[in-house]
Amino acid sequence: MAVCTAGAVDLKDLDAQPLTAKVEQVEADMSAIQKQGYDHFLLKEIMEQPTTLRSTLNGRVIPAENRAQLGGLNLTADELRDIEHVVIIGCGTSYYAGMLASYYLEQLVDGLTVDVEIASELRYRSFNLPKNSVALVLSQSGETADTLACLREVRRRGVKTLGVINAVGSTIAREVDGGVYVHAGPEISVASTKAFTSQVAALTIFGVQLAQAKGTSAQLLNQYIEELAALPDEIEHVLKNQKDSIQQVAEKYATYEHALFLGRDTLYPVAMEGALKLKEISYIQAEGYAGGELKHGPLALVDDRFFEVMLLQNDWLFEKSVSNLAEINARGGHVVAITNSHKQIDAEAVIRIDTKLERLSPIVLNVVQQLFAYYIAAARGNDVDQPRNLAKSVTVE
Ligand code: AGP
Repeated sequence: MAVCTAGAVDLKDLDAQPLTAKVEQVEADMSAIQKQGYDHFLLKEIMEQPTTLRSTLNGRVIPAENRAQLGGLNLTADELRDIEHVVIIGCGTSYYAGMLASYYLEQLVDGLTVDVEIASELRYRSFNLPKNSVALVLSQSGETADTLACLREVRRRGVKTLGVINAVGSTIAREVDGGVYVHAGPEISVASTKAFTSQVAALTIFGVQLAQAKGTSAQLLNQYIEELAALPDEIEHVLKNQKDSIQQVAEKYATYEHALFLGRDTLYPVAMEGALKLKEISYIQAEGYAGGELKHGPLALVDDRFFEVMLLQNDWLFEKSVSNLAEINARGGHVVAITNSHKQIDAEAVIRIDTKLERLSPIVLNVVQQLFAYYIAAARGNDVDQPRNLAKSVTVE
């Protein structure tokens, strides 16, 4: 029990016996928890991503030396090199950040196997982890009950745990064996945005570091390092030049009550995250799906009650995604295409972004989804920062 007065904190246990505690001074920039002229914390946190992402990357990505590394992993070079399996654990947006990063880890590190697990599922499953596994524990708040419980179970099994956390000094940060802070600054809005971007970036740096330790091809490493370094500017370009056009498109879809988000490969986790962002602040029933699953069920949903968000990127799956789009159009669907391609796309609305990124373009496309969800929720008059029924940190099951 703490009795807080202007100049003191008087600590007692529940038997009213005095308690002493080690006091840690956590640096908190008070301006970081002001709206600074924005209507909502959510818009501020979306718009400040170039700055917060630079904080995540600072000192960790060195293009001139074709090198990237995270401090604080508490792993020797041998321990790093011996990692054969990674299990990524998280909830909600942190889980989707882990899903997206898992594609990058597999691309970067030959032979590495990666599983991504919902913490509330893994903690109760009789799971087995192969030898030479490491667990990456993702949490913006560092206080999520299911993630903390899962961390404790994985540690009990003797698996090395690395945190990828935003909140300094949080419970999960104090219980992992090692890890990094993503330095995105306080995230006030319940909907997580800048933390997602910084978590994916930090996990990608981990992948580069693992690949460097295992001797993956320098050419692939160089592409990822260059793209990580360019990522803040690429996001800034979209935020500066396309915010208004994204708002115009979004507001046309603010009266729908159902939405389907579709993406393939690295855009599949992005589709899942886009659906979560929209549902939690607009209250539109939205679900994300792998594009290849369209004909296995979701196509039956297409009618005038729904709109569809189709994510497409300039890759070998572009034509497959275009055929998904044609299937929806043929059933009278209302498709909003979000893409970095300049090829012809037949959709009711197309939001094109200019980015030179290839591997990391999904992160920039997700920023478009963040703004898209924000403007729909704002148009619906919702309490964008404190959506009904939700809390910023789910500290209970
Ligand atoms: C995301 O917008 C939600 N607020 C929610 O899904 C969140 O990501 C989840 O509760 C996990 O929180 P954490 O990252 O703090 O552990």
